[in-house]
Amino acid sequence: MSDEPARIAALEDVPGDTTLLFTVSDADGALEEAFLTRLSDGTVVAFRNVCQHWTDVRLDSGDGGLVRNGEVVCQKHGATFQLDTGICDFGPCEGAMLETVEVGVEDGSVVLTDEAYRFEHIGGSGVERDGDSGGRIDFTGS
Ligand code: FES
Repeated sequence: MSDEPARIAALEDVPGDTTLLFTVSDADGALEEAFLTRLSDGTVVAFRNVCQHWTDVRLDSGDGGLVRNGEVVCQKHGATFQLDTGICDFGPCEGAMLETVEVGVEDGSVVLTDEAYRFEHIGGSGVERDGDSGGRIDFTGS
């Protein structure tokens, strides 16, 4: 394996009004999802694609997460996470924190600098979670 950080995406392809989903693997080879987004000052940040309320719920289900006022919104129960810190400032998991994935920018590309992960590909992992099946009952009973 090369020591060069893996390129995830062109910087210009990282949106500021939604998220860009990608897949990494951990030291055990398990696939994990994460997303990139760009803050209003242009900084690129990445977090694991896991709501801190129900950890089987994705913040980006494949077509971009809901980003509003510098926050990503969980579409299950409306928790909001500040994208500059990862902290949940509203919702059922208020005070919890998204898990950061370390990334950097090199020569117009966003690269994975987090030694805990290896870049796999853009897009989702293809691994189903319980939260995808609708099998759980939320507060509205649906
Ligand atoms: S699962 Fe995200 S707020 Fe409940």
